[in-house]
Amino acid sequence: MSVHLIIGASGQVGEHLVHQASVAGHTVVATYHKHPVVGMQQLDIRDAKATETLIAQVQPQVVYLPAALSHVDYCEQYPEETYQINVMGVCNVLRAVNAVGAKLVYFSSDYVFDGKAGPYREEDPPNPICEYGRQKVIAEHQIAINMYDYLIVRTTVVYGWERQGKNFVYRLLNTLKNSEILKAPVDQVGNPTYAPDLAKAVVELIDLNKKGLYHIVGPQRANRYEFACEVARVFALDGDLIQPIETFELGQVAPRPLVAGMVVEKAESVLSLPLLRYQDGLRIMVEQNTAQGRIPEARQE
Ligand SMILES: NC(=O)c1ccc[n+]([C@@H]2O[C@H](COP(=O)([O-])OP(=O)(O)OC[C@H]3O[C@@H](n4cnc5c(N)ncnc54)[C@H](OP(=O)(O)O)[C@@H]3O)[C@@H](O)[C@H]2O)c1
Repeated sequence: MSVHLIIGASGQVGEHLVHQASVAGHTVVATYHKHPVVGMQQLDIRDAKATETLIAQVQPQVVYLPAALSHVDYCEQYPEETYQINVMGVCNVLRAVNAVGAKLVYFSSDYVFDGKAGPYREEDPPNPICEYGRQKVIAEHQIAINMYDYLIVRTTVVYGWERQGKNFVYRLLNTLKNSEILKAPVDQVGNPTYAPDLAKAVVELIDLNKKGLYHIVGPQRANRYEFACEVARVFALDGDLIQPIETFELGQVAPRPLVAGMVVEKAESVLSLPLLRYQDGLRIMVEQNTAQGRIPEARQE
């Protein structure tokens, strides 16, 4: 048993990492930034001293870093502000992790690619087309050149029940419940990834002492419209409220890698179980919702 520190545990991926690392028998210490959670410590990774102090106090063997400002359009509009978190903050963490001789688990994205020829493998060269993707590439590079023991996990379109209720499935469910129209692009392709399954796979890779770069996503690619229609079908909501649209019609600030998504063969060759298809992840969500009651309201951004 070892001590696992999860920085950014109040977010979607972090919440499930806490659970899976605990289930695997590790002692878990977790942090939030702006959304307090009982039992977690506050940390802003832009504060190098506070980051160093916390990691020195906790003396973890593994530090997971799902913390990020991952709002793609916000990164495009405020590159300097977001760079402070997504690159400088990561550098603060990697220095502190090196100082205690721990392993770093960093979370990246298929937005490191240009989306011209997905799905992408680990050996494909990054070529980001938006600020968020550029920041992810720089952070990955900083980790690779400054650390010996690290795992970089690239994922995409993460969904599942989450404390903050802001992923695509929440937004869709709330829109459909209110009988409103949701426009979903037919030309943005990725692999919907069930958050608990992602966290389980990552903890297993750690327990197998894997290092380097892994793509961890659901095994099937879908465009956003197809995924949205499947959500409506599985939750028995009115799929006619979902309108297919082209990305350019959405007027999003940041360019999107369209033909993206990733190949998951490398991870699946070492994991004990295949990663979950999105049809199965959504079905589990429905079962849990039936057991627990109503769909939580999505947080307003
Ligand atoms: N979700 C996806 O579809 C997706 C796809 C590809 C890659 N990723 C990557 O996976 C990682 C996790 O994503 P997620 O969906 O879990 O994101 P999330 O739900 O937005 O969570 C982000 C976490 O980072 C924390 N945080 C933000 N700024 C911080 C700061 N300055 N110092 C310390 N903590 C800070 C947040 O804390 P508070 O909420 O308490 O402020 C929160 O716990 C990110 O690196 C993201 O880029 C996600």
